[in-house]
Amino acid sequence: MPITYLDKTKTFKLDTPNTTYMFRIVDDEGFILHLYYGRRLTDENIDDLARIEEPPFVPSKNNRDRGSFMDCAPFEYPGHGLGDYRDDAFSVINEEGYSATSINYKSYKILPGKPKLPGLPATFANTNKNIEQSSDKQNSICNTLEITAEDSANGLEIILSYSVFEDVDAIARSVRVRNTGKYQNIKLTKVLSASYEFYGDDYDTIFMHGTWARERNIDREHLGYGKHYVSSTRGESSHQEHPFIALLSSDANEDYGDVYGFSFVYSGNFIAQAERSQFDNVRVTMGISPVDFCWNLKAGEEFCTPEVISVYSDAGLGKMSRNFHDLYRNHLIRSPYKDMKRPILINNWEATYFNFDTEKLISIAQKASQLGIELLVMDDGWFGHRDNDSSSLGDWYVNENKLKGGLKYLVDEVNKLGMKFGIWMEPEMISPDSDLYRAHPDWAIQIPGRTPVMSREQYVLDLTRQDVRDYTFSQMEKILKSANIEYLKWDMNRQLTDLGSALLGAESMGELYHRYCLGVYELQERLITEFPNLLLENCSGGGARFDPGMLYYSPQIWTSDDMDPVERLKIHEGTALVYPLSTMGAHVCDCPNHSTGRTTPFETRGYVALSGTFGYELDVTRIPEADRNMIPSQIKMYHRYNDLVRSGDYYRVASYRENHEWDCWEVVSKDKSEALVTVINVIGRVNYKSRLVKLKGLDPDKIYSLKVFNMETAAEDEEFLRLRGDALMYAGINVKGIYHGDFKGRLIHLNEVTVQ
Ligand code: GLA
Repeated sequence: MPITYLDKTKTFKLDTPNTTYMFRIVDDEGFILHLYYGRRLTDENIDDLARIEEPPFVPSKNNRDRGSFMDCAPFEYPGHGLGDYRDDAFSVINEEGYSATSINYKSYKILPGKPKLPGLPATFANTNKNIEQSSDKQNSICNTLEITAEDSANGLEIILSYSVFEDVDAIARSVRVRNTGKYQNIKLTKVLSASYEFYGDDYDTIFMHGTWARERNIDREHLGYGKHYVSSTRGESSHQEHPFIALLSSDANEDYGDVYGFSFVYSGNFIAQAERSQFDNVRVTMGISPVDFCWNLKAGEEFCTPEVISVYSDAGLGKMSRNFHDLYRNHLIRSPYKDMKRPILINNWEATYFNFDTEKLISIAQKASQLGIELLVMDDGWFGHRDNDSSSLGDWYVNENKLKGGLKYLVDEVNKLGMKFGIWMEPEMISPDSDLYRAHPDWAIQIPGRTPVMSREQYVLDLTRQDVRDYTFSQMEKILKSANIEYLKWDMNRQLTDLGSALLGAESMGELYHRYCLGVYELQERLITEFPNLLLENCSGGGARFDPGMLYYSPQIWTSDDMDPVERLKIHEGTALVYPLSTMGAHVCDCPNHSTGRTTPFETRGYVALSGTFGYELDVTRIPEADRNMIPSQIKMYHRYNDLVRSGDYYRVASYRENHEWDCWEVVSKDKSEALVTVINVIGRVNYKSRLVKLKGLDPDKIYSLKVFNMETAAEDEEFLRLRGDALMYAGINVKGIYHGDFKGRLIHLNEVTVQ
């Protein structure tokens, strides 16, 4: 039983396969105090860790120092304004103007499965099934504990929800707040999704930061006193900061040490914070950013937060990542494409930018289809009168000057070549120069009397409005039904400013950010319901909305607008810290690379793209012939290894981000019978020996045969080594022959050999 209640000590024990999470209820007032999170325990008698038998003691024993108790007790979900000066998780403004909250235990229940979070993306209980646990209790591999607490002075019920997975070391937490009617309206000014308590003076944190074309850089720091946080107030999870935080022992590394990872299943504003306070209590909080957030909760209504996933690993960052990968692959992504090899696509953005027509696209498709590419994606510039990025967003009708004969003609021609067809749209946006804006200027998010801030010469559509969402959906539907379109790239190229909605009204303007995000989710849900076989790829100016929320709707997300393979080594490392390789949009680019100006071997560009979804973004009719001739080999490589890359366990062996010389990652099949090792030597080496690479994740007792994939023959060379797993991991192998010149790569395939 993964959720246990021990009546004697009023303790709750939540067990995943290898971890335990515990808290208990103390004192007459029902304080909910954290006890433990870490390796799985068989003994549950650790209630002493709540520290209520030492000064300042609980209020029933020492009410004169209640404030001191409040300021150091390890609260499961800390309220506001009543003596706990660390950061809180929950504050309000009631009708009398008071902001204080307290969270006092009332009751609990244990539910089989995992209830849906209304209107929000969330993990689900059953693996590989897009169904609710409640309708399939027998396959339950997740149960949910709901703690109902109350804040009687405000007439609020606060429901803390913990869903505990039985097949992966993860716990999902979210919160619901219900107005039971003491006040007609309560303004929620902060409702975080979860708070976690730790104790100690020797933790590090990992946050991820970035910018356009440089997303998800790993930033590790020792946790000093005070509050340390990342957040977004941009209306999306953002390039700049990421809805993730890891708290780790300062000696932890890729394979060793305690690591706690927290990931927020949401695509809008967030805060992720670690705070070390006076007694070395460490509090980690995560949820919707309280900045510009104010939600009216009327009597009888309930507000539900998005969820936070926590993962504990006793064996470093690698194990944390593999837990997130398994959870997101099996319990979050719903798309039927999740377990399928994705069609190899060619996207025309960096091939043509806005300068294309039917003839050009068909010429790309003709050449691409001959080489084995399976899907043509027509990117930005096919609609309205869009010849650059300054117009037409919102005018989702075909520009027949470019696409002579219309969209259906083009799609049919591409289909005749044996290729699928995909399209780009940016449904959340409106250009000032568009028929839509001329007809409905009030559909843009803006503040009357202020000229809205322009970004990429566009505004954001007010998706808090049902009429705007309905119109947007109808336009998308029309396009998607007008031809055989099998893939959609959903882009979002600017962040929110000028928070004003023509319909929300003064009272509710603080709901705009969250309602916007709910609006995006509603649209994507409608889309995948109406078009269940559409392959959806989310995108936001590259990877500004690469978050778990989006993965609920699309199995893949465009990782970054920078396709330079050297830059991608860092971006992929940061992204794969949390997200499975199967979700990372990755293309072979043209050279010199449009972002960095760097020229890298075509072969290496392919190796790096292989660690994601794999595709091309170049003018295949114009690239050097030698590169073009390599495409069929790369396609064979993809078909040979993608099943493994998509479904295997990811191990990071060397980090170019850290060592500035070389990178190495490995994917091992779940049964450990097969592995693929990718080595990229970024900087050429002079007068060094071959590099010693110690492999990871293999079965020490299995014997493996090692072969190199040869791009010239498009096949594996003869076996160059046969060794047992223990030797491969503990002694290592010498990787030879890729050190003369820069940016060289090597793929090594391992297969178990059965000895008779
Ligand atoms: C964004 C995307 C690119 C491309 C352009 C088109 O930047 O990330 O891949 O689609 O928009 O304008």
